[in-house]
Formats: sequence, C-alpha cells, structure tokens
Amino acid sequence: MVRAVAATAWSGADAIDVIDVTPRSPGPGEVVVAVEATVISPFDLKRATGLMGRDDRMLPLRLGNEAAGVVTAAGTGAVGFDGEPLTVGDEAFGHWLPGAQADEITVPASMLLHKPAALGFAEAAALLGSATTAVHTLEAAAVRDGDVVLVHGASGAVGGMVVQLARRRGAHVIGTAAPGRHNQVRAAGAQPVAYGDGLAERVRALAPGGVTAAIDTAGTDEAIAASFALVADPARVVTIANFAAAADGAQALGPGPDTERIRSAARLDLVRLAAAGHLVVSIAAEFPIDDARSAYRMLATGHAGGKIILRP
Ligand SMILES: NC(=O)c1ccc[n+]([C@@H]2O[C@H](COP(=O)([O-])OP(=O)(O)OC[C@H]3O[C@@H](n4cnc5c(N)ncnc54)[C@H](OP(=O)(O)O)[C@@H]3O)[C@@H](O)[C@H]2O)c1
Repeated sequence: MVRAVAATAWSGADAIDVIDVTPRSPGPGEVVVAVEATVISPFDLKRATGLMGRDDRMLPLRLGNEAAGVVTAAGTGAVGFDGEPLTVGDEAFGHWLPGAQADEITVPASMLLHKPAALGFAEAAALLGSATTAVHTLEAAAVRDGDVVLVHGASGAVGGMVVQLARRRGAHVIGTAAPGRHNQVRAAGAQPVAYGDGLAERVRALAPGGVTAAIDTAGTDEAIAASFALVADPARVVTIANFAAAADGAQALGPGPDTERIRSAARLDLVRLAAAGHLVVSIAAEFPIDDARSAYRMLATGHAGGKIILRP
C-alpha cells in the first residue's frame, strides 16, 4: 500500500487525512512515479470543502494535481510531453495529475516532462500549475510592452508568476499584497500596494498615467471594483477567482478547451525560463505528507505567501 492525501468529509482542512491506497502497475503509455514533492493549492481546498461537488460517494476524495519525482516503472511507449521517452530512473514532473498528493502515482507519461537538473523537486512540482495559469491571464489581457498592469494577489502563488511574466513582456506592474509581503512583491518586480479601503485611489497615485489592464487572483469584490474603476476596457480585466465579474464584462478564466490549449502550449517555455533562473518559484513551506492537515490549515489562512509543498 502507499499513502495518499484525501478529504474524508466536506469540512476542508479539518477532514484532511492520509489514507492507504493500492498502487497500480503502469499500462501502455503510463509510468509510475515515486513522488519526491507534491503541491497543495486553493483548488484542493475548494474540492475538500465540497465547493466543486459534494457527493458522499466521492469520499474519501483523493487530492492533488502537481508532483515531481523519479520514474520507477514504465509501460510500453511511455513518452513525455516533451517528446522524449520516460524510463526507470528519470526525474520527471507535471501538473493535471489526479491524486498527485501521494507516495506514488501511476499516470500517462504524456502528462510529464523531464525535470531539468537546475530545478529542485519542490520547484518543479510547483512550477506549472501557477505559471501556466499566469500565462493564460496575460494572453487574455493581451499584456504587452508599455502596459501598466495591476495584479491583485501579487504575493500569492499565481500572482507572483503573473508579476514576473508581465515584467518580461515589458509591462510596468503594480501588485496588491498585505504590507508584510511588500518586499516579496518588490523582489518579483512590481510596485507593491496594500489592498483594503481606498485601493483604487492608492493605485491612481502610483500610476498617474493610468492602468491599462488588471489581473485578479484574489477574487474579492474590492479587487474587481478597483479594476473596473481603473481600467478603461473591461475586457482587459481578467480574473481567475471571481466568476461573477464576467457579467460586467471581465474575462473569467476557468476550465475549457481554450484553457487546456493555451496552458499546455506554455509549458516548455516556462520550464526553460525556470531552469535558466529567469522565473522564480516561491515556496512558502514544506510539510511531511503525514502532516498534510497542518499544510491545509496553512493554505486555508489565504496568506501562505507562495506554494505549499508536501514531502512523502
Ligand atoms: N481559474 C483558474 O484557472 C485558476 C487557476 C489557479 C488558481 N485559481 C484560483 O486563484 C486563486 C489564487 O490562487 P493562488 O494559488 O495564487 O493562492 P495563494 O497563493 O493563496 O494567494 C492568495 C493571494 O490572495 C491575497 N489575498 C488574501 N486575502 C486577500 C484580500 N482580502 N484582499 C486581497 N488580496 C487578498 C494574498 O495576499 P497576502 O498573502 O499578501 O495577504 C495572496 O497574494 C485561488 O482562488 C485559486 O483557486 C484559479
């Protein structure tokens, strides 16, 4: 048996448990990965709270999407997303891996990439979920050289990636965060600003020439209201966390064929950037997998300050 993290009731962090599951041999095109690092994200917490569906027959609900580790078995024709065969001993990582919070996973090789030596297991595991989402937001908002972009949640896992990638496109970036995280936001390349009452006025003072696009990863009504107040074109207000904003003309990015296409297409470039040190993955904390409940409690604060890693 191997350990896996699962929600055993619909009560979020308080019902996160480590359960025993039966390992599975790889079929054609599949590999088994001994996980070295796996990630917990707000999406896992939403599932564990029943926000993405609440049918008791789904319990215990295995969690996780992102992992990095070492291939321990390979089926015939196991070829990675990068087009290279995956064989026993290869270090690999990926996202969209169901049940990734486990000692071991059996997954299609096509979902994995070879891990560059320059990336640690934690950084590799934490890279693609946030960074591909960030690319999608920037594509949707058509961010380019000369833009002034407001990023809500710039101290978060996705927001931190949006800041770095927007800067690489030549944009000037203003990023919201709690004051205690302003140094982190500055280091990522943005001008920090505190969220809370008076946000739009504070941003106007920092950007007297105007804000041309806004990307919301915080999901608050305040973030959406400030964005509409500051950005002339509502279609250049993009959110990944406030779907009601679409009714007022914002772009809300959720699951769908465009999402899969745009985020998949971004993977190889992002890996190259991270391996070359041009994209920093911010790791907030690491927990042993047996202490998954503590990791979920940290995530539930909403202020982790980066990705949270579980180590089997
Ligand atoms: N639609 C999609 O495709 C998609 C993909 C990935 C993620 N998401 C969603 O995007 C959201 C962010 O994910 P994440 O992994 O980046 O989360 P995260 O790492 O926990 O970051 C949360 C961010 O929100 C900020 N924040 C917390 N409370 C706030 C408030 N009251 N006002 C303004 N900002 C506040 C935090 O700032 P401080 O810590 O500085 O307070 C932090 O920057 C989640 O809801 C997640 O489910 C959606």
